[in-house]
Amino acid sequence: MRLGLVLFLPALLIFEFAIAGISSSPQYAGRSVCAECHAQQDAQWSGSHHDLAMQPVTAKTVLGDKDNKFMVRTEGPDGKLQDYEIRYAFGVDPLQ
Ligand code: HEC
Repeated sequence: MRLGLVLFLPALLIFEFAIAGISSSPQYAGRSVCAECHAQQDAQWSGSHHDLAMQPVTAKTVLGDKDNKFMVRTEGPDGKLQDYEIRYAFGVDPLQ
């Protein structure tokens, strides 16, 4: 009986580590998961400056002059000027 326990516990540990290894790739949970238990915090945060600090670029999220192209011309890795599409708008009132 005791020998069975001595063999069973290490086997259980190995099994646990094996399972953890399979499913251990970290992934972004997303805020909706947190809101299930933290509804008040989610409500306070929604629409706050921290919430709006990084948003996909759209005519609504870009506060400056906009022509709906959202491009920037700057040096590329080769040192030559290139056009890049802007994907995110950082900051909101009073900064952007
Ligand atoms: C299943 C319910 C549940 C989920 C889902 C959950 N939490 Fe929590 N969280 C709690 C509980 C319960 C506490 C402890 C609250 C206390 O001690 O007053 C807590 C505490 C915290 C605290 C510490 C708060 C403090 O004042 O010290 C933080 C930060 C936190 N959670 C962030 C998150 C984040 C980020 C997520 C999503 C990735 C998340 N929680 C998802 C239940 C949950």
